[in-house]
Amino acid sequence: MPTPYSKPHQAAILLASRQSDLQQKQTKMDSPRKPKPLSTNLFFLVLLLSTNLLTLFLSSTFYSSSFCYLHPISSISTLTQISSSSVADSDATENPDTQLDLPSEFLAFTSGQALPYGFNTNFDSDTFYPPVGQACTRFPDELSRFMSYKVNGSCPDDELLAQKLLLKGCEPLPRRRCRPATQPDYVDPYPLPTSLWTTPPNSSVVWTAYTCKDYTCLINRMKTQKGFDDCKDCFDLQGREKNRWASREVIEGSLDFTIDEVLATKKPGTIRIGLDIGGGVATFAIRMKERNITIITTSMNLNGPFNNFIASRGVVPLYISISQRLPFFDNTLDIVHSMHVLSNWIPTTLLHFLMFDIYRVLRPGGLFWLDHFFCVEDQFLDVYKPLIETIGFIKLKWVVGKKHDRGAELREMYLTALLEKPLKNSW
Ligand SMILES: *[C@@H]1O[C@H](CO)[C@@H](O)[C@H](O)[C@H]1NC(C)=O
Ligand SMILES: *[C@@H]1O[C@H](CO)[C@@H](O)[C@H](O)[C@H]1NC(C)=O
Ligand SMILES: *[C@@H]1O[C@H](CO)[C@@H](O)[C@H](O)[C@H]1NC(C)=O
Repeated sequence: MPTPYSKPHQAAILLASRQSDLQQKQTKMDSPRKPKPLSTNLFFLVLLLSTNLLTLFLSSTFYSSSFCYLHPISSISTLTQISSSSVADSDATENPDTQLDLPSEFLAFTSGQALPYGFNTNFDSDTFYPPVGQACTRFPDELSRFMSYKVNGSCPDDELLAQKLLLKGCEPLPRRRCRPATQPDYVDPYPLPTSLWTTPPNSSVVWTAYTCKDYTCLINRMKTQKGFDDCKDCFDLQGREKNRWASREVIEGSLDFTIDEVLATKKPGTIRIGLDIGGGVATFAIRMKERNITIITTSMNLNGPFNNFIASRGVVPLYISISQRLPFFDNTLDIVHSMHVLSNWIPTTLLHFLMFDIYRVLRPGGLFWLDHFFCVEDQFLDVYKPLIETIGFIKLKWVVGKKHDRGAELREMYLTALLEKPLKNSW
C-alpha cells in the first residue's frame, strides 16, 4: 500500500494524495467556542525553538523535487532599446554589484520605469518597479536561462525550469516578451456541464515537462508506476475523486467532513466565493460549482498538468505556491479550504504567516476548512495546536485522528478542523 507521506514536501504543495482508506482511530476533542489564548510570550518562545528543530528535521527529509499601456512605438526593437537604456541609467547607480550579470530582459522588466504622466498620487511616486520574487537573483544561472529568448518570438518550452525557480522563491516570475509553448493541435474544451467530469483531450496539454505524455498514462499511473507521487490517482475522475466530500452521510468524529455538513454551519446561500489551497485537480471547486459556489483552486504542476486539467474541467486554476501572499483583499472570501497540503513539511514560520494570510482574506464569519493537516503527535501538541489556536479563529469542528498506515509507533496523525473568523471584533 502506498504511503502518502513518503514525500511530505510534495504533498504540501500539491495538496494531493487523498488516502481515504487509511486506518484511523479517531478521537474527538472538545470544541470550545472560544479558543483559550495561551500565554503568548511562552508560545512564541516555543515556536521559535521548534522552528529551528523543525527546520533541521525537515532539511533531512525535504529535497527539492522534480519540483498596457504603451505610447505608440513603431517597433519592438525600439522598445527594447528604450528599456535597455533606462536600465543602464537607473541601475548602474542603485546596485552596481548584484545586477552586473543579470540577463538584459530581466533588467528590462524589473528596473525602475518612469510613469509617462509623471508623479502619480496613487503610487506616491513617479517611477514604477515591476515585481518579481525577491529570491530571483539568488539563482542567476536558472534566471538567465529563463530570461533568454528572442523578444516577440517563441518562448523556450521550459515549464519545469520556471516551476523550480518559482518554488525556490522566485515568485512571481518575471514577465517575458515571448509566446509560450502551445500544442499545435489544440481543440476547444468540452462545453459545460460535460467538461466537469470528462477527461480533457490529450491535445490540451504541452507534455514536455511530464513523464506521462497523455491523460491515459496519468489515469493509469496508480497501477503502472512504482513509488509514490502525490495525487497519483487524481486524474482518474471515475476513481476516488468521484465521491470526495459528496457523501450524504455525516459520520460523527470522521476526519472527512462533507461539503453539506460544512455549509450547514452557515445561513443558506451565504457561502458564495472562496479558495482551495493546493486543490489537486479541483474536485472541491467542481463540487462547490454544483452548488453555485465559486472556488478558485491553487495548484502547482508537480508531475502532471494540474493547471491545464483544472481549467479544462471549467473552474479557475491559480498558479501560485503556498509561499506567496494570497492575491485577495482583506475580509473578502467566504471560505478557504485546504486538504493534505498544509502540514509539517512547511517551515513553521512560513506556516504561521500563511495562517494569518488565510485569516486576512476571510471575511468576518468566513470559514477555514483545514482538511487532513498531517503531523506527528508531539509536533501537534508542542507546535501546531498552539499555532493554530492563537490565530483567532473560533473552532466549529475539531477532529484529531491517528494515521496508522505506516505503523502506530510513528505516532502520525491528522487534524481536520472547521474554523470560523469571528463575525464581530476580528481585528
Ligand atoms: C512580432 O511577431 C509577430 C508574429 O510572429 C509578427 O507578425 C510581427 O511582425 C512581429 N513584430 C515585430 C515588431 O517584429
Ligand atoms: C490520449 O492518448 C492515449 C494514448 O495515445 C489514447 O489511448 C487516448 O484515447 C487519448 N485520449 C483522447 C481523449 O484522445
Ligand atoms: C444554481 O443556479 C441556477 C441558476 O440560477 C439554478 O437554476 C440552480 O437551481 C442552482 N443550483 C443550486 C444547487 O442551488
